[in-house]
Amino acid sequence: MDSNGNLQGKAILVTGGAKRVGAAIARRLHAAGASLVLHYRSAAAEARSLAAELNAQRDGSAVCIQADLLQTSALPGLVEQSVTAFGRLDGLVNNASSFFRTPLGSIDEAAWDDLVGSNFKAPLFLTQAAAPHLRASGGAVVNITDVHAERPLVGYPLYCAAKGALLTLTRALAAELAPVVRVNAVAPGPILWPEGSDFDSAARQAIVADTLLGREGSPADIARAVHFLLVDSPYITGQVINVDGGRTAHL
Ligand SMILES: NC(=O)c1ccc[n+]([C@@H]2O[C@H](COP(=O)([O-])OP(=O)(O)OC[C@H]3O[C@@H](n4cnc5c(N)ncnc54)[C@H](OP(=O)(O)O)[C@@H]3O)[C@@H](O)[C@H]2O)c1
Repeated sequence: MDSNGNLQGKAILVTGGAKRVGAAIARRLHAAGASLVLHYRSAAAEARSLAAELNAQRDGSAVCIQADLLQTSALPGLVEQSVTAFGRLDGLVNNASSFFRTPLGSIDEAAWDDLVGSNFKAPLFLTQAAAPHLRASGGAVVNITDVHAERPLVGYPLYCAAKGALLTLTRALAAELAPVVRVNAVAPGPILWPEGSDFDSAARQAIVADTLLGREGSPADIARAVHFLLVDSPYITGQVINVDGGRTAHL
């Protein structure tokens, strides 16, 4: 894909696309002309409402598909349903993710399955299933990692390791799928605080103080980078863009 940001006639699957960062990515790609498959797990109401919003702008331009990404056997079906919806697949954005503390001593197999499953295993199996369609369309993959993939956050070893694996997978799949399909990553810094109570206001302030720009980013900042990597970067593959206000530039 290389079209000055224009995604008209393209179909893109965004996992976890119903709300928060995923919804911002979906809105941005849709505004550029793409048809959107909004994958969700439990956010059915948000997914339907976003699809209705997008379809009101362009009839028949968005569908929602439910799947638990921990059900690996369901992943080829998610890709096939996406291809059926619009007759093609030009982009896959692996955005869905679980995130919770796992201090050493507390880690059990359920946490491993959830964190590694959503952040690493599902993107691998989804990309594998999507590969023939992406090769046919000359499409691209963008994986949403985290600045903590390379600089682990204390208390979150399993999440950080899973994102680190996704970062390595980004480079490995860029090699596997070259030269037709490009695979890149976007690593967010502080964009939207998690929905739980993991970060108190002192922790939030400390994280933001570590950015060079002195503020949180917005979901739209992530969406911009994803859009660029999907469509306007024909000579970029196997790379990661840190969208973090400069936090990793000096830590
Ligand atoms: N927010 C930030 O500041 C930040 C910072 C660094 C990295 N990131 C990364 O950026 C991406 C988006 O961040 P976010 O904060 O918007 O994410 P989020 O709200 O924590 O999660 C996004 C979606 O992932 C879906 N999901 C989780 N486990 C799933 C599973 N097993 N099967 C299917 N779907 C599953 C959930 O869908 P349902 O709600 O439908 O269940 C959820 O809405 C993530 O990859 C995250 O790791 C975000």
